[in-house]
This record gives sequence, structure tokens and C-alpha cells, in this order.
Amino acid sequence: MSKAAVVQAPQDQAAPPSSLSADFAPRVVRWQRSHGRSELPWQNTRDPYRVWLSEVMLQQTQVSTVLGYFDRFLQRFPSVADLASAHEDEVLGLWSGLGYYSRARNMHRCAQEVVARFGGEFPRTAAQLETLPGIGRSTAAAIASFCFGERVAILDGNVKRVLTRFLGFEGDLASSANERALWNLATQLLPAADSGEDMPAYTQGLMDLGATVCMPRKPSCLICPVGTDCQAQLRSEQERFPVKTRKLRRTSQSIWMLVARDAQGRVWLEKRPASGIWAGLYCLPCFDNRDALGASIPMSAGDALDDAPPFVHVLTHKDLHLHPVIWKASSNKSQLSAGGAWFDEAAWQGLGLPAPVRKLLTELNA
Ligand code: ADE
Repeated sequence: MSKAAVVQAPQDQAAPPSSLSADFAPRVVRWQRSHGRSELPWQNTRDPYRVWLSEVMLQQTQVSTVLGYFDRFLQRFPSVADLASAHEDEVLGLWSGLGYYSRARNMHRCAQEVVARFGGEFPRTAAQLETLPGIGRSTAAAIASFCFGERVAILDGNVKRVLTRFLGFEGDLASSANERALWNLATQLLPAADSGEDMPAYTQGLMDLGATVCMPRKPSCLICPVGTDCQAQLRSEQERFPVKTRKLRRTSQSIWMLVARDAQGRVWLEKRPASGIWAGLYCLPCFDNRDALGASIPMSAGDALDDAPPFVHVLTHKDLHLHPVIWKASSNKSQLSAGGAWFDEAAWQGLGLPAPVRKLLTELNA
């Protein structure tokens, strides 16, 4: 057990203390091979298409949710060329329920660039992978290390926690200088240069440690392969790391949503613009206030208009206060607006919809 100097930020972070770094990677690799996850469908393959698909899906979603989506995507799009040639609406529809739809739009654009710029073969280095839409530095490194054994560091949220605790890294990760310093340290902790075959197990081992051992609360330090040298554990300060002071400034917004239903029970949905909230998804018509919503409706005698109970939908940076207004048209209407259409339940179920819109329509149909 060694207590090294806690790593201060950022001036003296040229290298991790050698007492800490010497055995780190071999211990992670050995542990991954005996205790890590090995049966996930995107493991035991070096196919960059599968690995890329899984890494993008796993960026903000847990493994248990991703499993079904991963299988359905591969079934519908067996190759990157199949995905590239699909219509965006179908990709967003298959993504429906995973959230953070910019991932799906970037994934579609990425597939198209792999075909257009690289002849349908994913590039083999992290540096080139990072030039593609939706592939950041850590995702590029994960793909390159899993598929091509490149010796390059990953640093996603879980891995930041593992490394800052192990090193006792005090730098505030709200600062980009500290973040850079941690990337440098992560690079220096990699397996030795002559052990390229260890890279997939090392990368997976860090991910597995972060997900199953070094959890945000009450980490399982007794079973951690590097616990005896973990500076945070030695000081019983695990939950103080990673240090990050800047808090998200939350905002809120009120949106009035028109639930227009025709005499056949179909609902009117419009495709959202290509940028901004819920970009590219189908959505109920949205308004900034109740009057604007009312003014948009071609009411006729016999139509009913009801204000449904408002509800809050929480996004990462924002609370959305949603006010549904239900308009039951007594006769069938034609176009309500350009860029929209009437959809029956079977049709809207297959569309990419914002989560609160899907929830609302499902509840109204129940
Ligand atoms: N999270 C991100 N990448 C992962 C992977 N390859 N396996 C499990 N969880 C992950």
C-alpha cells in the first residue's frame, strides 16, 4: 500500500507518481480478463461498425437499455452502408426512446461520411475517427483501442472518476487546463508501448471498473484491483472525486402543445426544424403562449377544446413546463400547416418523437 503525493492541478501534472503508475495498467488488464464483462454483444468483435454503434448508444444510456436497440439497429442496418442510405426519419424512429436525438442524427451523418470519405471502411486511427460527426476524443479512442489495438487513452465520465480517485487528482475539471492535464495522465497510465494486444482489455477494464466497482456513491473498494494504491481510498475521500465545481445553470421554458385529433382519432404532428430543441423529430405543434395556440386553430361548430393538466419534463439544462391543449375536431380537417400530417396510432408509434410527446399521446390513447 503506498500513499503517494496527491496530484495537484495543473502545474505539477507532467507525470503520475511512478509508485502509482508502474503496476496500474497490468492490474486493470488482469482484472478485466478475470472479472470484467465479456458477454456484451459488442465485445468479442473487432468490427468497428458494431463497436462504434454500441459506443454511441452507450454515451448517455445504460447497458441494459442499449442491448435491445443495438440488436434492432444491426438487424435493420447490417452495415454502415445500409445505415448511410436510410432515410433520417427511419433512423430517428428506430432510436425513439433512447433520447439525446442529436446522437442519432450525427450517427446517420457519420455513416454517410464513412461511405463518402472512406469508401465504407471506418478509419483505423483515433485521430481520423475523431474527424467524423458525433465521435469525440474518448469515443474515437475506444473504437481505435478495441478494434485496432491503438495505444490511446479514453476519458469518459466513469473513467474520470476512476482515475481522479486513483491519483487523488485535485484539479477542478470545470477548467479545461485541468481536463487536459488529466488526459495527459490518462495517457501515461496506458499499458506499455509493446503491449498493444492489452489495449482492448485495458480500455474495457477502465469502463467496467467505473460502471461496476468505482461507483459514484459507496464504491466497492475492497474488490478493486487498484484499491490498495488508490489515493482517494487511502484517505477515505472517494466521494470527493472527481472535483468539479461548476454547476449547470438551469433554465425553464413554458410550451403550449396542440393535440389536434380528427374525427378518426388521428393526431396532427409536424416535423421539427433541423436545429434547436427536438431537431428533426415529429412533434405536436408548439406555441409560446395559449393565445397563439388558440389563434392557430380553424375551429368549427361542434369542435371541443380542452386544457389538459400541465406537466414538467426535465431536460439536462432546462425544465420544460408543458401545457397540452386538446382539440377534438368534429369533422375531418385537411392540412393544418405545411410540414405536418395526420397520423394514426400505428403510424406515430414508429416515428421519432420527443419523450414527453410520446408519453402524452400514449396516456391519451390509454
Ligand atoms: N460504456 C461505454 N462503452 C462501454 C462498453 N464498451 N461496454 C460497457 N459499457 C460501456
